[in-house]
Amino acid sequence: MSTLHHPVEAMPADMRDSVTTPSAARVYDWYLGGAHNWAIDRAFGQRVVDIVPGMKSYCRANRRFLNRVVRYALDTGIRQFVDIGSGLPTVGNVHEVAELHRTSGPTTQDVRVVYVDNDPVVQSLGGLILDRQGDPLRHRALRADPIADPDGLWPMLSETGVLRLDEPICLLMLSMLHFSKDVDRPHDALDTMRNLLPGDSLLAVSHWTTSDANEQEQEQNRQLVELYEQSTHPGQLRGKEEIQAFFGDFVMVEPGLVYAPRWRSDDQEDFIGEPERSRMLAGLARKA
Ligand SMILES: C[S@@+](CC[C@H](N)C(=O)[O-])C[C@H]1O[C@@H](n2cnc3c(N)ncnc32)[C@H](O)[C@@H]1O
Repeated sequence: MSTLHHPVEAMPADMRDSVTTPSAARVYDWYLGGAHNWAIDRAFGQRVVDIVPGMKSYCRANRRFLNRVVRYALDTGIRQFVDIGSGLPTVGNVHEVAELHRTSGPTTQDVRVVYVDNDPVVQSLGGLILDRQGDPLRHRALRADPIADPDGLWPMLSETGVLRLDEPICLLMLSMLHFSKDVDRPHDALDTMRNLLPGDSLLAVSHWTTSDANEQEQEQNRQLVELYEQSTHPGQLRGKEEIQAFFGDFVMVEPGLVYAPRWRSDDQEDFIGEPERSRMLAGLARKA
């Protein structure tokens, strides 16, 4: 009987890096209790939790923000979603939230979702999972880096045949813009993408912030950034003003840019009375 071997050395360089280095996507999946992570990711995640003990609850709060954004967008008539930095198909993906929300929206069968991530493992695993659980006519996983090449994303979205680029889109960039060490590039990329979006589109952003951090949290932030240097996605954290700037001249949906648990929360959450301890600022804005 022959045995199939997939030696790491035989993989394309980018895939090799992703399997031999803790990946931001797989570590995040571990924080959320998902199953798509490996020993290197779990060991890395545990080191993070040792530094930032609340990490898993911050990620869950971020995920609940995603859930509320998708429901809000559906309720306002949006049927198309582009989830950039989507991560691994994990607990509560955009298309799953939309399907579950169908009771209050008559046409969620029309919901179309394109997931975009620059991690090769995310893209291949995401594609496999969507093949099983999604609808190929309505759901697609792409590999792209829209921070490096925002203009290049639009033709890729068009080629999927899944979206109508002249109709409103809800563009999500949740917990991903802090994975860029370049100070200006993410803002430039957002400028381009806001221009490309049709009127009435929505832009959702969540981002780990340095604002309101107490002394202990400042030290945690410093160590967190340092540790992520060893992952596939080193990055940097930002203050509230820099995060607000990602929305440009889009009109903020109430209550504006706030800590994730405070954004249109309709149920009991962690961080009651102390939302700033959730570390992640979150907001949604509409193109006029
Ligand atoms: C922490 S996960 C966030 C997952 C999901 N957006 C959420 O909030 O639940 C961050 C993801 O962003 C992806 N990412 C980071 N920088 C990216 C970039 N420049 N282009 C595309 N994906 C990126 C990573 O590969 C990772 O999967």
